[in-house]
Amino acid sequence: MHIIKRFVDLKRYLKVRKKRSPSQIIGFVPTMGALHEGHLSLIKESCGGCDISICSIFVNPTQFGESNDLKKYPKPIEKDIELLINNGCDVLFLPSVEEVYPATYTHRNFDLGGIDLVFEGKSRVGHFQGVCNVIYRFFDQIKPHKAYFGQKDFQQTVVVKKLVNITSLNTKICVVPIKRELGGLAMSSRNIRLSDNGRKKASFINESLKLIKNSFREIGLSNSVDLAKKHILKNENAKLDYLVVAEKDTLKGVKTYENKKLVILIAVNYEGVRLLDNIILD
Ligand code: PAJ
Repeated sequence: MHIIKRFVDLKRYLKVRKKRSPSQIIGFVPTMGALHEGHLSLIKESCGGCDISICSIFVNPTQFGESNDLKKYPKPIEKDIELLINNGCDVLFLPSVEEVYPATYTHRNFDLGGIDLVFEGKSRVGHFQGVCNVIYRFFDQIKPHKAYFGQKDFQQTVVVKKLVNITSLNTKICVVPIKRELGGLAMSSRNIRLSDNGRKKASFINESLKLIKNSFREIGLSNSVDLAKKHILKNENAKLDYLVVAEKDTLKGVKTYENKKLVILIAVNYEGVRLLDNIILD
């Protein structure tokens, strides 16, 4: 695996590869490192669907509100490199903050029609604009044919699709299903901050989503959401931030089921750790 730190070197590498074989499909997996099975499932998809797979590890400062969270972000780079090699990644792109945001860089404000301001965007002001800035910069420089994102961060996938729609970017966004721990908790780099017992018990988050999915046809959407809320609040140390049902493509909140494609989104603060999950209703 090649480890490349500058855009200019990455572009040179891709130029050489394309010269040898012009029709090569470039796959891109943006991450912030501390890789787990969830991230690796994206790498595997990319390797399966593309000729060249690039993974970036960049802890993007513009998407963090509190600088403390940014400072605390784990950086097990040696382990990450080993995992990427073992999973067939061709290139690790590992830029510095100055490389991604040079002194001349002006932070852009993308008009996403408000989908960046609800749910996660409400709790983390400016977060999705930060995500869009880094993704635009990467896509614009690397010009991947396909980019892989996890359904785990569902709102992020809708935001990035919108970003591609409103700009001249030509990258196909591929969404990969959520990887879960044995009990059902969605894998996340934050899970290590839970106690051992908390990590097992946190399966109540996914259970509450399944409760809605399995009951809404019989008792109606709002009753099933109420049931799920009760199930969550049975757990001490759990604070519900949001549990919403929304249209899958627009993230518009809905109160009743009208045969539209819907998603249930949840964010829970458990043992002081913010945990996200979602499930599609179809
Ligand atoms: P990060 O949190 O490192 O996640 C990188 C990618 O891995 C995202 O697309 C995320 O949805 C996916 N992922 C995380 N946990 C997953 C799981 N359990 N199952 C499947 N996929 C999972 O998301 C970011 O980084 C950043 O916002 C980024 C897109 C890199 C921009 O800075």
